[in-house]
Amino acid sequence: MTTVSIVYFSGTGHTQKLAEAVDRGAAAVTGVQTYLIALSGEDIAKGRYANPAVFAQLDASDAIIFGSPTYMGGPAAQFKAFADATGDRWYRGAWRDKLAAGFTVSSGPSGDKLSTLHYFFTLAMQHGMIWAGMPELPMNDKGINRLSSYSGVMAQAGQESPDVAPNDADKLTGELLGQRVAKLALRLAK
Ligand SMILES: Cc1cc2nc3c(=O)[nH]c(=O)nc-3n(C[C@H](O)[C@H](O)[C@H](O)COP(=O)(O)O)c2cc1C
Repeated sequence: MTTVSIVYFSGTGHTQKLAEAVDRGAAAVTGVQTYLIALSGEDIAKGRYANPAVFAQLDASDAIIFGSPTYMGGPAAQFKAFADATGDRWYRGAWRDKLAAGFTVSSGPSGDKLSTLHYFFTLAMQHGMIWAGMPELPMNDKGINRLSSYSGVMAQAGQESPDVAPNDADKLTGELLGQRVAKLALRLAK
């Protein structure tokens, strides 16, 4: 079975909603098993992230999709602590040739979300992974990729609660990213 893991941090629930949408999109592809992995601040002690079960799941995945809110123009500290803990996998080349992609949520239409997506890209490149972007054009009547991000999925939270934001268009964009990664993972597994 081809496996896609979505690993994300969410402080107040917006990124979680988007992660669930990405997961829905990937899980709808026949032949793909998904794992939705929420990073917990409880797994960080003295600034260091540790959770062997999370890493075992990721090591066994064909594709890993990274998600974090944009905080102060980059990924949340909790996500960065997780990323720093992947250093031994970098050294061993453990994630080489896995597929990678990313998504982020922030309040503003921009809010410097691109910096977060580009951080995910850099992390993936350090691991020798294969980056899958978001190729959907924004010229459509469903609002797909309305924020026009091709590096990964951007969603906007504004001042709304997670019950309202990200909106349906942003969640649909997330679903399409999940679907794309799942289909690409199946092709790579052939
Ligand atoms: C510490 C902190 C820093 C933030 N920095 C930004 C930012 O740089 N740009 C932005 O648009 N929103 C920023 N926000 C707003 C969050 O990105 C927004 O509330 C997001 O929806 C949080 O996602 P979450 O609900 O998954 O935690 C920040 C929020 C916090 C708490």
